[in-house]
Amino acid sequence: MSKRKTKKKLKVLFVASECAPIAKAGGLGDVVGSLPLALEKLGCDAKMVIPKYEAINDKKFSIKKNIKNLKIPIEGRKEKINIFKTKLPNSQGIEVYLPESKKFFGGEDMYTHKRPGTSFIYSFVFLSRTALEITKAIKFKPDVIHLHDWHTSFIPLWLRTTFEDDPFYKDIATLLTIHNLAHQGEADINLLKFANLKVKDLDLLGWDAHDKDVVILFQGIVLSDLINTVSPTYAKEILTKEYGRGLDKILQKRKDRLFGVVNGINYDFFNPKKDKNIFQNYDSDSLDNRLINKVELQEKLKLDCDSEAPIIGMISRITSQKGFDLLDKIMKEIENLNFQFVLLGVLRKTESKKMVKAMFLAAKKYPKRVSLNLEFDPVLANQIYAASDIFLMPSRFEPCGLGQMIAMRYGAVPLVRKTGGLADTVLDFDKKTEKGTGFVFKKYNSRALYNTLRRALNVYRRDREAWRKIMIQDMRKDFTWDRSARQYLKLYKKAIKFHKRGEDLDEKIYNRIKGLRVKI
Ligand code: GLC
Repeated sequence: MSKRKTKKKLKVLFVASECAPIAKAGGLGDVVGSLPLALEKLGCDAKMVIPKYEAINDKKFSIKKNIKNLKIPIEGRKEKINIFKTKLPNSQGIEVYLPESKKFFGGEDMYTHKRPGTSFIYSFVFLSRTALEITKAIKFKPDVIHLHDWHTSFIPLWLRTTFEDDPFYKDIATLLTIHNLAHQGEADINLLKFANLKVKDLDLLGWDAHDKDVVILFQGIVLSDLINTVSPTYAKEILTKEYGRGLDKILQKRKDRLFGVVNGINYDFFNPKKDKNIFQNYDSDSLDNRLINKVELQEKLKLDCDSEAPIIGMISRITSQKGFDLLDKIMKEIENLNFQFVLLGVLRKTESKKMVKAMFLAAKKYPKRVSLNLEFDPVLANQIYAASDIFLMPSRFEPCGLGQMIAMRYGAVPLVRKTGGLADTVLDFDKKTEKGTGFVFKKYNSRALYNTLRRALNVYRRDREAWRKIMIQDMRKDFTWDRSARQYLKLYKKAIKFHKRGEDLDEKIYNRIKGLRVKI
């Protein structure tokens, strides 16, 4: 009998707070929903764990009960919960496990649910511990656990303490992807009791907790085998004081384990040639059809139907990260510069309304030029990508940014600040060489944005041929997930190698950082 050797598939467990289309609040959800699909195509065996939020539509995603009464050790006792399961939409067979708990994942909003008396931080610590129990219960021993942001950053901590001698967990490597360093998951020291941990379990935990609070992301950064951010430039930026959010010095000590991989976008979903959400399909060979989208959108949003007035589109969470405070000047000049402005943005209850004041004033003054849409609407989003001439992302910082890539796919020319993923994906247009994929400004101030907008409008009005070239270049760029997934495969293999080396990493890192006094 001949034995055929089958190549062992790399097993990856994704643990995250979001996964599109099942549960999505932002770009993190898109990444977690798309990357596993591309990895599966490359021969990976991926499974995932996300919370079963109350707001998730079970029917729509065929979510069914899978494990009854799984015991989760938490707070010195065992919490029994049911685990649900479904298949990731559009995958061959990626299993998604969803722990159910009204206490931890109840409520309407994904990020405000809380157990009385505690913060939502506990919910994600609970999720993390649950993921470790699920993977054992289903006998899926991953080669790598792929962690996303602070929500899951306690996993390497348990792997190096509670599970240190457990043969099931021993060889599992970890990769932590930082989507946004601004969120770190800070909690007071009582969290440790909840997580069945003690300060003296690990020097690195003691170091963090000496000021009586614990920073979950810090644990992920010091204890994961490998770390990456979602663009090479952001990976460099977070090593500086300006972008490091108090963790720059720590990150510097782990520089040899820190990488950057630009996200991809879903080319099937974001495809102007096939997109059913837009008014008229088109591609780079039929750009004239694109104009129909512009006129239709103007009509839908009750703007002046003027195909000559450039539309500036912006689709963004309304937070201080996204550069809204730079818009005052251009909003005042809206008549002089003769453009239209369309925003699709979500303003969270916790954010200040001051940020959008300039836009509200402009909308009041120029109702036929400014359209503010403050509820997320995926149909309108694609219509804006297909209709805008310029897509604006003046971010203060931007780990990767997906909007600029989607905009390019639809031929909306990006105008961005040179930071993070924006710097890595948009090349400033040079009039002389006619090279470039958008317009880029460096300094974070409203004048720099204003000047760059004027420069862009000049090309738009005076040199349509050049503008067309930029659009075509943009539409033909490769931001597919396949390209990113190949880089992640390399990182997984590297993480496994580092993990196997078996050096006493904790002690080494502790020795590197113990002299540091940083305030996180
Ligand atoms: C966060 C970042 C954004 C990034 C996304 C996905 O939302 O702010 O820049 O694109 O995560 O990685």
